[in-house]
Amino acid sequence: MNLTLLVENNPKIESFFKLNLSTWLGLEIATQSKGESALKFLDVNSSQINLIIVRARIGKEATAKLLIDYMATKNLNIPIIIVGESSGSLHPQVPNSMDIKLLIKTAANCLGITAKEMMSKVVPDFFPIPIEHFNDIKRPVCHVYVQDQKQPKKYTLCFEKMKDFDMSAINAHVVKGVTHLFVDKLDRLDFVSNITSELVATLKIDDLNEDEQLSATDQSVELLSKKLLNLGITEETISLAKKNIDAIRTNVKKNPKLSKLLDRLLSNKSSYLFKHTQILTYVSLHIIRNIDWGTPEQEDKISFISFFHDIALENDIQCEIKTSNELKRAQLSTEQNSLVERHAQIAAELVSKFPHAPMGSDQIIRQHHGQLNGVGFSDHYGANVSPMAIVFIVAEEFTRIIMKHSSGNMNQDDMLRELKGEFPTSRFSKIIEKLQTLNL
Ligand SMILES: [Fe+2]
Ligand SMILES: [Fe+2]
Repeated sequence: MNLTLLVENNPKIESFFKLNLSTWLGLEIATQSKGESALKFLDVNSSQINLIIVRARIGKEATAKLLIDYMATKNLNIPIIIVGESSGSLHPQVPNSMDIKLLIKTAANCLGITAKEMMSKVVPDFFPIPIEHFNDIKRPVCHVYVQDQKQPKKYTLCFEKMKDFDMSAINAHVVKGVTHLFVDKLDRLDFVSNITSELVATLKIDDLNEDEQLSATDQSVELLSKKLLNLGITEETISLAKKNIDAIRTNVKKNPKLSKLLDRLLSNKSSYLFKHTQILTYVSLHIIRNIDWGTPEQEDKISFISFFHDIALENDIQCEIKTSNELKRAQLSTEQNSLVERHAQIAAELVSKFPHAPMGSDQIIRQHHGQLNGVGFSDHYGANVSPMAIVFIVAEEFTRIIMKHSSGNMNQDDMLRELKGEFPTSRFSKIIEKLQTLNL
C-alpha cells in the first residue's frame, strides 16, 4: 500500500503534480486521465493505493463523485483529495490546482506525514529527477549530473547551470537507457519549482478557472522577471511577456467591478508585485478609456508600462518601497539596495530593447519614481512630465491607496480625497477626476 493514484487530464498539471509530490513527500504515483479508466485501475490495484488525488470534474464527467461512489459500493477506505471547485464534499479539497503548497500539505495530512518528518527526510546527495522533465525546460537552474552506468557512485556533470542545452543531448541519454538525471540535493527544491513555473507558464488560460488563471499569471510573471534579468530580451522572454500582458488585460475585462478582482487576488494569496501590477493595469486603463485623448494605442501603451515598470524587483518587500527613507529603513543587503534604487533604470533599459515597444514607454518607466535617470526616489515631478506619465503616476498612487485599504472598508470618496492630497495641482486633479467613475 504505497502508491498514490492521480486522476488528472491536463498532462502539464499532471507532470508538475507528480514531480512535486515525489520530491516533497517521496510519493510514488500512478496516473489516469479520466474517471472511467481510474475505476478500471482501482478494480485491479486498489490494495496498493494509499491516497487518491482526483479532479472534481474532467470535461462533463463528475470524476471525483464517480470515484467516491465507487469506493462506497466497494467498501474501500482510501483517503481522497479533490482538486478543483467542488461544493458540499466532506473530502479535503484543493480548489485551485495552481496552489501546489496546499496540495502538498493536504497530501501530507492525509498520509500522516508531519512537517518535521518532511524536513528530516534523508535525501541522497545526488537527487534523481525523471529525465522526461527535461523536455519542459531549455536550461537548468542548477548543475545537472548523470550517473555512471558501471560505477553507480560516480556522477558526472552533464548540463551546466543556466546554460541552454540541446534536446538531442537528452535523447542521447534516453537512447542509452538513462531514466533519471541528478541534481545536488540542496538544489532540488529550486529545480522543481523552476520546472513547475515553466509548465504553469505554458498552460492554456482557457483550461483554467478564474482563480487558477490569476495564480498561473502570478507565477508566470515571476518566472519572466527572473528570465529578463538573466537572459535579457530574447524571443523567449518577448513571447512570455506578451502572453502575461494579455492575461492581465483579460483579468481586467472579466471583472467589471474592481473589488471582485481584488477579493480574488487576496484570497489567492497573490504576491504583492503581481497584485500591484494587476490593479495598476486596471486603474490606468480606466483613466485612459475615460480621457479625451485616450485611444486603443494609448491603452496598449499604459498596459505595457504597468507591466514592465517594476519587473526588475525580486520580492514583495522591495516592491513596497517608494521613498528613499523607506529604502533606508528596509536595511537590505548592498546588492538588493542597489537593485531597488536602480529598478526603474533597469526596466527602462530592458524595454528600450523590446521590439516595437510603444513609443516613449521607456522614458515613463525610467521616471516612474520621479528621477530623470531612473535611479532613486523623489516626490517632485518636474513641470515637463508628459500627460501619459501623469496618468501613470496617479494610477500608481491610487493603486497603493487601494491596496492599503483592501482588507478594510474601501470608501471611494475618502480614497480619492487622500489621492488629491498627494497631488494638489490642477494637471493632476484633472486626471484624478476620471477615477470617480471607477467601479469599485
Ligand atoms: Fe510600482
Ligand atoms: Fe517602482
